[in-house]
Formats: sequence, C-alpha cells, structure tokens
Amino acid sequence: MEPVKVGLLGLGTVGGGTVSVLTRNAAEIARRAGRGIEIAHAAAREYKPEAIDGIGQIGQIGDDAFAVVEDPEIQIVIELIGGYSPARELVLKAIENGKHVVTANKALIAKHGNEIFAAAQKHGVTVGFEAAVAGGIPIIKALREGLAANHIEWIAGIINGTGNFILTEMRDKGRDFADVLAEAQALGYAEADPTFDVEGIDAAHKLTILGSLAFGIPLQFDRCFTEGISKIDAQDVAYATELGYRIKHLGIARRSAGGIELRVHPTLIPERRLIANVDGVMNAVLVKGDAVGPTLYYGAGAGSLPTASAVVADLVDVVRALTTDPTNRVPHLAFQPDELADTPV
Ligand code: HSE
Repeated sequence: MEPVKVGLLGLGTVGGGTVSVLTRNAAEIARRAGRGIEIAHAAAREYKPEAIDGIGQIGQIGDDAFAVVEDPEIQIVIELIGGYSPARELVLKAIENGKHVVTANKALIAKHGNEIFAAAQKHGVTVGFEAAVAGGIPIIKALREGLAANHIEWIAGIINGTGNFILTEMRDKGRDFADVLAEAQALGYAEADPTFDVEGIDAAHKLTILGSLAFGIPLQFDRCFTEGISKIDAQDVAYATELGYRIKHLGIARRSAGGIELRVHPTLIPERRLIANVDGVMNAVLVKGDAVGPTLYYGAGAGSLPTASAVVADLVDVVRALTTDPTNRVPHLAFQPDELADTPV
C-alpha cells in the first residue's frame, strides 16, 4: 500500500524531533499504523539541513504554509509552529479542506479549541493533541481511554518542564533563576516566549485542556487562576528545604461546591511525597478516579524527542483509523504472525 502523505508545519525543536522519530523508527511505526508515513510537503521558518532529509517539498511559513494545507495529496497536517496565529488560520483551513490535524500546540487548543473541534466535527476529521500536554506522557490517552470508566475527582500535576527544571536546579545546585532559564531555552524546553513558562501561562493552557477532558467542560483558559514561579527566590527554596518541603509548580483541577476549579501556582509539598521528588524536566500527573483510585503518570514533559513521541503516536492513531482494513483499527499485537519464527526471544 502507498504511504500516507503528511504535511508538516514547523521544523523547530519538536518538528525536527518528529522527522527524526519517523525516520529512525519507520518500520515499527508503519507496522503499527498499518501503512508507511511520508512527509510530502513542509513549511518552516528555519530549519537545519539534516532535518529535511526525505521531505518531498519544503517552503517558508507564510504562503508556503497555506500551500501545505491546500495540497490535495496531503491527508494529515502536523502543526508544530506553536502560538495562536497563524496556527489557528492554518489548522482551520486544513480542517475545512478535509484534512486530519495533529498538533502539539497547547496555546492553540486552550484558547481556540472550542472553535477548532466544532470545525473538525463539521468536516468529519480528527484533531489529535496528545503532545500538547506533558510532553511524552500519554496523559490525553489515559484520560480518554484508560480511565474512561471513571468519574474523575481531581487532577494535580507538574505540567511545565521548564519551571520544574528551574526549581530543581535552584534547590540542588543553588543556581540562579535566570541562568537556569537560559539553559532551558538552549535545551529546547522553553516556549518561544519563556514568560509563558515562568508566569504559569503554559501550565494554565495545559490544565485547561486536562480539565475539559476530565470534567466534560468547554475549554475556558481565561477562567484558570494563573500564578508562575518568577517571584520565587533562593531564600524561599532554602527555607522550604530546611522545613522538609519542596516547592513545586502545580496545576490542580477539581470539583468543588462552586463548580470546577482550575488553578496553577507554586505549592509546598512534603518531601516524602512521590510528586515532590519529580525533578528536572520531568512531569508527573496524578489523576483520581472514583473506580480506579489515584493513578500517577510520569515522564519527560518537554524536549524534542519526548514531544515528538506524542506527535507520532497521534499520527499512528489517525493513519490506523484511515485504513480500510477493520482488523487494523484496533491494535492487537505489534508483530505480524509470520515474523514470529525469526524473532529470537
Ligand atoms: N515549555 C514547555 C515546558 C514545553 O517546559 O513544559 C512542553 O510543553
């Protein structure tokens, strides 16, 4: 079968990682998706030459990006340019043209998700956004699928890798806030505008998405209480440590008497707690369901390959759903029976 032709918008940290994962794991991904995946048309602001190896056609963000979403050969558009605009216009145009969309853009989903999902429903296409929350952790899948039986009571998580990296380095190595932030930017963890990370806006975008999924409410980013870590200094960190606590920036969504509460802010957590020991760029999300009880999801919350892992997982889901073979729509086992004899165990 011919590979599925995909359009890619953005070849930065996550876009480059996505090309890399699709290349290095091509055979396994094709087996799981039921078909090969080819990036046939891309547009980016700038890119490294090695990142475009194997991409059919490439242009600049601007008119060339609209050419990607208008390309009749493209069935799926991956949006990795981030920000509100032109991401919103490009995604809406792709949907209008009947293309499925995969995005890592939490700002876009938190702010314009209600409009985007309504358009997707109207045009019968899927919008995948696993990579928008908690990097490589499959938390969207967990909420939608693994916990589908549950009445969700609350969610609490460390959902900004940059902020957690800064707090960890300040505590463990006594490093300066600005110095660690600069390193997080160099490592590709931080947002294009890092005030989104340190002022809690990025975490609020993510919590808005989690709250909507968990409690079945519309996306209401403007209703999330938002406080960042920019006012925390070395003395706060030292006092917390002396008293047996860790300062963690948490996103909390829970049912309360007045409705659903969404808030992100720094929190003191006793150091014996598991979540107090989630360090560096790692994220962790606790979800309490009425049937399952508390569950914990842990992994890299930012960075090129972890985020690409989530992007490609969505891509595999969409490609699998496009297949005409009904037995391939639900993955049973990730091998073909005729391969068994050759596989050493
Ligand atoms: N800037 C984000 C973070 C990237 O540090 O968590 C991943 O969403």
